[in-house]
Amino acid sequence: MKLILLFTLCFASSIQLEAQENHPFEHIGTYEASNDNSTKEYFYSGDIYASWMKAMELCELFGMKLLTFDDAKEDENFRKSFVSFFANREAFIYIGANTTQPGSRTEWNWINGEKINFDIKWGEKQPDESSKEEFCLTFDENDPLVYHDMGCKDVLPFVCKESWKIKNIKVKE
Ligand SMILES: *[C@@H]1O[C@H](CO)[C@@H](O)[C@H](O)[C@H]1NC(C)=O
Ligand SMILES: *[C@@H]1O[C@H](CO)[C@@H](O)[C@H](O)[C@H]1NC(C)=O
Repeated sequence: MKLILLFTLCFASSIQLEAQENHPFEHIGTYEASNDNSTKEYFYSGDIYASWMKAMELCELFGMKLLTFDDAKEDENFRKSFVSFFANREAFIYIGANTTQPGSRTEWNWINGEKINFDIKWGEKQPDESSKEEFCLTFDENDPLVYHDMGCKDVLPFVCKESWKIKNIKVKE
């Protein structure tokens, strides 16, 4: 009997999947999206701290993206699921969104250019635009995690995400 597996990975090539095994980031969890059967893998940068722009580049270097959420459900799941993981770690974590209007509660864009289309769960008194140049988005360690505006030059840990979908599996005997 011969088994042939044919599959197509939507967002990641097999080369990128191999690279994933070698990257220095810590796998913190998986999310299965029910609307399109895609799988999301989340990775924490751990001891690797970077500016927001550099964090974006580092995720891409390893075939991933700085963390974005496809919808409110994924956002909520992440903020609830990983509270204990982040509890004893660095307080702020970069994710893949920024703004051209610091201080705005709604005008934030994911790194793919799309506007965040759900209610952003800001931390207390956030966004506060305290330094007048808080163009980038972070999570603030809290229960659940909440959003906090931040300068983009701060050197912080970050979360990368890999998104993939097995489109078509055929098993041949
Ligand atoms: C998701 O997977 C289920 C079970 O494999 C299938 O029935 C459903 O059609 C899939 N949905 C999409 C949007 O691909
Ligand atoms: C916001 O992110 C985009 C990439 O998605 C980048 O081109 C732009 O320079 C960023 N803006 C700031 C203020 O960092």
